Amino acid sequence: MTLPHVPSGAQPITEQVTPVLVQMPDPSGGAVAGQLEHELAEAFGVPYVVAVASGTAALQAALSACAIGPGDEVLVPALTVVMTVAPLAALGARPVFVDSDPTTLDLDYEDAARKVTSRTRAIMPVHLWGRMGDPAALSKFASVHGLTVVEDAAQAAGTARDEQRAGTVGTVGCFSMKDGKILWSGEGGFLVTARREIAEHATAFRSHWQPAPPGQAPQSRLATNTRLAAPLAAIALVNLRRLSTLVEFRRAQTRHLLHALEQAPGLHALPPAAREEWNGFAPLLHIDLPNPRAFAEHLAQHGVPNSTGSFRLVPCDTRPMFTNSDRPPCYGAAQILDHTLAVTLTERETEAELDHYAAVIVREANAWAT
Ligand SMILES: Cc1ncc(COP(=O)(O)O)c(C=O)c1O
Repeated sequence: MTLPHVPSGAQPITEQVTPVLVQMPDPSGGAVAGQLEHELAEAFGVPYVVAVASGTAALQAALSACAIGPGDEVLVPALTVVMTVAPLAALGARPVFVDSDPTTLDLDYEDAARKVTSRTRAIMPVHLWGRMGDPAALSKFASVHGLTVVEDAAQAAGTARDEQRAGTVGTVGCFSMKDGKILWSGEGGFLVTARREIAEHATAFRSHWQPAPPGQAPQSRLATNTRLAAPLAAIALVNLRRLSTLVEFRRAQTRHLLHALEQAPGLHALPPAAREEWNGFAPLLHIDLPNPRAFAEHLAQHGVPNSTGSFRLVPCDTRPMFTNSDRPPCYGAAQILDHTLAVTLTERETEAELDHYAAVIVREANAWAT
């Protein structure tokens, strides 16, 4: 199995960024962020896109636009990074952690239903590792309980399930363009929505309420500055124009590594759901070895970067700022994280590097198993 050749983005990026640099300092930020929003809207099939400085900023602008504020409770999977939760805490809302189903990695909707109260306003599904969960189950749950859906699709550009693109199932979907994401710009993010008033609020929120939504005065409300810098918007634009190539390349990288690991002892690939067009964000394997989390850490020490071993991904409800909750911990999320090897990839990993990862994983799994 060989990886397709993907032309380097270096030259088109240089060509796109150079005129932006020449115009600097341009107080208006230039037209490039607007052009990026326009082309993102076409690519994601949505009416409105607001580009911001990070995925975290996209989530905060989205939650603010959905009127999430002090005293509100928001259902959020424990199976996520802290960046999902920080924006809602910054708005004064309270995260209520929901468990995940180890067999599907999707939200455990029975647990979610038990945790709905009269203060629950929204649910934030997180499409971790590009896996998006069942969109019909999400929409049904949200409609039964009258909840707004803010999707954390930071890792899910290019995934679709049942012909619904990740990030377009709920009221608003949020993406990151940090390095390592398939659509990258170094740092950056954006939100997608079909609702004009959400886009207008987010546009005001990212820029100290200026321009304000129609009928409101500029700077009549406190907000923040999370505008996307023009040179980064130019990088994003180039990568957006080659997005289908980048998604296919990530899928090929993931297929290649999983194929090379088919005979590895104690490791079994976790396939996507039926009717899911997964973006292949990270090769995912169930670790069926003694002390699986320690094995993932061991691999990280031997040069195979992965979510738990390298980035210490733990269930969010077990982080120190959340352990004062009176609720029991989310065991499904812990089980998933303890037993999942999610190898971290970027566009830079070549076939030779993936083969090296595979050789290290097979060698260490054999040694670990004996
Ligand atoms: C699932 C998830 N949510 C949110 C974020 C936050 O995005 P950013 O780092 O661009 O702020 C990330 C980024 O790593 C992420 O992976």
